[in-house]
Amino acid sequence: MTSSHSPRSFSRNSARHRGFGAVSSWQALPDGLEGESPAARFRIRVLEDGIIRVQASIHDSFESNPYSVVAQAKKTAFTLTQNSTQLVLTTSLLRLEISLESFTLAFFDQAGNLLNQDDSLGIAWLGTEVTAYKQVQAQEKFIGLGEKTGNLDRAGRAFTNWNTDYFAYGVGDDPLYMSIPFYIGIHAQGHYGIFFDNTHKTVFNFGASNNRFVYFSAEDGDMDYYFIHQPSVGEIISSYTRLTGRMQLPPKWALGFQQCRYSYYPDSEVYTLAQTFRDKRMPADVIYLDIHHMEQYKVFTFDGEKFKDPKAMIARLKEKGFKVVVIMDPGIKTETGYLPYEEGLEQDLLVRYPDGKIYEGQVWPGWCAFPDFTKPETRNWWAQKMAFYTEAGVDGFWTDMNEPASWGQFTPNLIEFDYEGEKASHRKARNIYGMQMARSAQEGALLQNPEKRPFVLTRAGFSGIQRYAAAWTGDNVASEEHMLAGIRLVNSLGISGVSFAGYDVGGFAGEASKSLFARWMSIGAFAPFYRAHSMINSNDAEPWAFGEEVEEISRNYMKLRYRLLPTLYSKFYGSSLTGLPISESLAVQFSDEPQIYLSAYQNQYLFCASLLVAPVESTKSITKVYLPKGEWYYLFSDQKHTGPQTIYQDCPLNYLPVYVKGGQLLTCQSEVEHSGQAHDGILRIHLYKGSTPSEFIHYEDEGEGFGYQSGMYLRRKIGYDPVSESLHFGPVEGDYASDYGQIRLYLHGFGCQSVELAGKSIKLSKENYAFLGKLTEFDPLPEMDHPYFEIENLPYLELAHLPESFVIKGLK
Ligand code: NOJ
Repeated sequence: MTSSHSPRSFSRNSARHRGFGAVSSWQALPDGLEGESPAARFRIRVLEDGIIRVQASIHDSFESNPYSVVAQAKKTAFTLTQNSTQLVLTTSLLRLEISLESFTLAFFDQAGNLLNQDDSLGIAWLGTEVTAYKQVQAQEKFIGLGEKTGNLDRAGRAFTNWNTDYFAYGVGDDPLYMSIPFYIGIHAQGHYGIFFDNTHKTVFNFGASNNRFVYFSAEDGDMDYYFIHQPSVGEIISSYTRLTGRMQLPPKWALGFQQCRYSYYPDSEVYTLAQTFRDKRMPADVIYLDIHHMEQYKVFTFDGEKFKDPKAMIARLKEKGFKVVVIMDPGIKTETGYLPYEEGLEQDLLVRYPDGKIYEGQVWPGWCAFPDFTKPETRNWWAQKMAFYTEAGVDGFWTDMNEPASWGQFTPNLIEFDYEGEKASHRKARNIYGMQMARSAQEGALLQNPEKRPFVLTRAGFSGIQRYAAAWTGDNVASEEHMLAGIRLVNSLGISGVSFAGYDVGGFAGEASKSLFARWMSIGAFAPFYRAHSMINSNDAEPWAFGEEVEEISRNYMKLRYRLLPTLYSKFYGSSLTGLPISESLAVQFSDEPQIYLSAYQNQYLFCASLLVAPVESTKSITKVYLPKGEWYYLFSDQKHTGPQTIYQDCPLNYLPVYVKGGQLLTCQSEVEHSGQAHDGILRIHLYKGSTPSEFIHYEDEGEGFGYQSGMYLRRKIGYDPVSESLHFGPVEGDYASDYGQIRLYLHGFGCQSVELAGKSIKLSKENYAFLGKLTEFDPLPEMDHPYFEIENLPYLELAHLPESFVIKGLK
């Protein structure tokens, strides 16, 4: 395949700019058109009304790019016309004008608004490097690009995609572990997305060091991008994830609190850890075994000294309601007699130099060989090896160091990978390696336990990684700025299709102060993936290691996380269908409000669509919060604000600024110690009065397994309509019998004393309600006490969770 990619008429000085040139011939295709200039060829295809793929190459055939895009093209009506200077392709959502003279492209929406236009340099080459140069629209903002540091609006900066192991990275450093070459442009005429499907090292320059254009380029390979337009930013994300796939519904336990450390050992320490969570009534679901579980860091081994009987240990942890996740590093110790190495050699599964010698790099075990995860046989083999862990009862897998990392941080580029039979050097394969390892881990988990939903956590990845794994943002640092930077990373991952993401709560490197740890635990409760982690040789960093006050604050937020599980689980289900973020930058729903991009407010996000979280350093006791248009209720007191508005908010350490959007609802359950523990069977629904209607899909299933794919689920639409002042419960769909026999509906911001159900008036009951518990008065000086909020006399109504549809009226 690669050998047929011969360069077309390279000039002697190939390092100079070579434009695409004038289109010399073209022809229509059933789904678009293709053509060429003397220098290069192009192909343009309509995938659906709002997605057009643009390919340009200086080779005889186009690259196949087998990893990211999983969507089939939809048969889509379009028209293609020609005038003296242009070809014009029109779908119901897009118009693309192609200059015949220069092969420059301009994209318009159906109303004729210019969305995106090439600079006159268009698509061009510098040797093998290919670039698309684009004009910048007035006030254009750029968001996305996955795990990238810096501001929400990426304008003015350039970024490199090259998966990198970066211990204790700085909050402005680049590149990090994961590459997602997808961004969204937002300006006054509209918005669009561009996904550049090329696994080579790529650069996205949003205006750094020039005042002429933005561009995206790849060191080699083709220009191959998908241009996406939809009526809203959210729908662009949905289109992008239709292309590259969506998160699969995780097991419910993966939404619980997870405790990690590099590393917990021996087994007695792991028991103590588990028991301490239970003794202290701090809900938690998962314990991680980092690299010290292995003998000499060799994957697929347990250190028999530290873990005498791993199976028995894991069984005991399960009795306490814990799941166990183990780390898997790709590096395989090159030790004669070590079975994974011997098998890798025998079955030709390891990465080699072009002359056939095995490539070795150093990682934890010393010199290592690297499985070629871009080869299906290697993925299958690894998946089979994972029986070693699943037979011991391991529940989840953590694929670390899969950039791939090795000491020296400079893998030689000539080493060769299978790349699904196409053969590629490290230059093309590096960025996809980690994703293929995560894929193999997911396949292995499924192969070994076909009845269970896999849970894989990965550090490296590429576009589409969301199909295989959750992601965390690697080796952050215990600092206030890192805490906030992690939120932007997770929000950016959400814009880029990776809904299930988080950061090391407390900071991996360094020591968190008491207040930093408390605040990080509070913010982390509102992250899709909620895990505390810290590195070797650091102080203890469990939620009880920072003294009583931090312990109580942590417990409060951990409990709140578990109370919110019905909301979270429903939203995870939703995200698995739509690809929309769970931790959603305000740029998704409020992209046209300029304040949201300001550094003071850019960290704010919507969590599970209804909660606005305004993260703030632990050192502050008051902060400014920007509330976008709509009504907003301070979660803890119900104080109401109307946006758009900037407010001053007290933020004592025990109260993170969180607001509920008017018109939305939250679903809650009673406190539990882990996600598998039975709750009291009452679904608490908190409805907040607002002027915009909303629809919430309540979702339940077994929390594990695949029964839900054949009907064992419960889905119910709950719609609020402010005009008719009613809450409509749709009929229950699916065969799963609800976990909740009762509903308790809390009405926030409503003035009514009674409501109407099935023609009958029902008087509301009242109670004082608190989302967080009161802290112990540690300090004898009263003024040092922490504040405590309770919503006084909150009206509510109890009703049976009946399967038939019903309407509650009179919500005034
Ligand atoms: C690097 C990972 O980023 C970190 O989370 C882990 O603890 C260490 N490797 C040791 O496995």
